[in-house]
Amino acid sequence: MIIVVANSKGGVGKSTLAVHLAAWLHEQGHKVTLADCDTQQSSSEWIREAIPEIKAVRLDNPDIILNELPILAQDADYVVADGPGSQTETSRALLLRGDLAIVPCKASMLEVRALAKATEVLRQAQDIRGGIPKAVIVLSMVGKNYRLTQDMKDAAAALSLPMATTAMTLRQIYADAPGQGSVVWNLGSRAREAAHEAEALFREILPDAVAPAARQAVKA
Ligand SMILES: Nc1ncnc2c1ncn2[C@@H]1O[C@H](COP(=O)(O)OP(=O)(O)O)[C@@H](O)[C@H]1O
Ligand SMILES: [Mg+2]
Repeated sequence: MIIVVANSKGGVGKSTLAVHLAAWLHEQGHKVTLADCDTQQSSSEWIREAIPEIKAVRLDNPDIILNELPILAQDADYVVADGPGSQTETSRALLLRGDLAIVPCKASMLEVRALAKATEVLRQAQDIRGGIPKAVIVLSMVGKNYRLTQDMKDAAAALSLPMATTAMTLRQIYADAPGQGSVVWNLGSRAREAAHEAEALFREILPDAVAPAARQAVKA
């Protein structure tokens, strides 16, 4: 399965989500490859420090992405592709190959409005491919006392993209994690809430990826 973390805006939390998702899938026992498709290459450097067992590759041009992603997918249970901030053709290539698109979006009306533009390439890909990739919006950097306004719900609904119930909250620990070469659940008690939230988010988006043992642990 190829999971693309996409939003053509920069600084919305794509790399943070991609690295944590790749690390979580790895911990569920899956074979994971992180495809760093941003020219800044921050996620591949981060994952190499955080979880060296995860294969990280840099794919920085649309042709290479179109050619290589299916090959990488044959050799892994999950390929997590961290998308670029602005290069439209790179995003297009990713969305023409992805099975699922996760779209992080900052929780503000301006950002949600901008999603119409930022997800244009996603809609083109879905149109061409008969609804694939499936997509889900994840609110990122949500303030502590934040409440999703009806305006924002309406704006998201107008895009006909589902929104995950679990959001990623604005927390210093996420911003500290790359400097520590780690993911939040390996950063001790200060990161406990962030760790719970990330776990809840990934379980919500990818219920089938949860390790069988972990599934039972929750039921018991
Ligand atoms: N939930 C969060 N809380 C606090 N800071 C965050 C959060 N998510 C991301 N950041 C920080 O915001 C900046 C942009 O995030 P990043 O994941 O690099 O976004 P993108 O890949 O979309 O450009 C980084 O400095 C990152 O550490
Ligand atoms: Mg990034």
